[in-house]
Amino acid sequence: MNQLVSILFVGDVVGGIGRRTLLALLPALRERHRPDFVVVNAENAAGGIGITPKIADELFSAGIDAITLGNHTYRHREIYAYLDHEDRIVRPANFLPSQPGHGWCVVSHDAVRLGVVSLSGNLFMDPAGPAFARAESALAALEGKVDHVVVDIHAEATSEKVGLGWFLDGRVTAVVGTHTHVPTADARVLPGGTAYITDVGMTGPRGGVIGVKRELAVEAMLTRMPVRFETSTEDPWLNAVLITASEPMRATAIEQVLEPAP
Ligand SMILES: [Fe+2]
Ligand SMILES: [Fe+2]
Repeated sequence: MNQLVSILFVGDVVGGIGRRTLLALLPALRERHRPDFVVVNAENAAGGIGITPKIADELFSAGIDAITLGNHTYRHREIYAYLDHEDRIVRPANFLPSQPGHGWCVVSHDAVRLGVVSLSGNLFMDPAGPAFARAESALAALEGKVDHVVVDIHAEATSEKVGLGWFLDGRVTAVVGTHTHVPTADARVLPGGTAYITDVGMTGPRGGVIGVKRELAVEAMLTRMPVRFETSTEDPWLNAVLITASEPMRATAIEQVLEPAP
């Protein structure tokens, strides 16, 4: 069945300011773009680092279909059991099997089934299993169970993200990068039909240093001494991408959605 499908993927939501920005903009974004699915990376949603059950519940109540995570997944202990029990929240698939949670999920709307896969990069990140091989395992597990797949590659190195995009081109609907909190200018549909962007960016305060109050981040860089970081609240923006598709596992377009908080 070929059906027009659109997916709004929102980059790393940072702290209360990021959550308020997302929730304030969501009604207008739904009105304008009519997304069938909204997927949010929320690894920084709790005070700038990690996520709690209360915050995850708040996002699901707002109609978010699935949540992806990253290197800050395990900051708050109370999320551990939640990650095992709640299907719609995914941590990187290449974490250890013994670590709480799971790496992919399937969410459905109107008979369209979307697979959501989370992966951690291997370069300049905490140790994790091989990202490319685990991507293959995730796709094998989802085969025949989904109409579309979005892969969130949570990674530092642009080369690794670009490489994964090419590796999965023609096999998934989209490969979107997260983690750097800075949106890149390379959104496009690759020749095989996979929508790709190296980094979606963050939903949080642009007036800081990737989410941290800028005077604290600069002090740490200047003095090379420990500084207690706090989340900035200055100049909040939503950074997202809208992916559209008309046949299974193939995107027709990807466009950036970059909006200041209202
Ligand atoms: Fe992040
Ligand atoms: Fe991260």
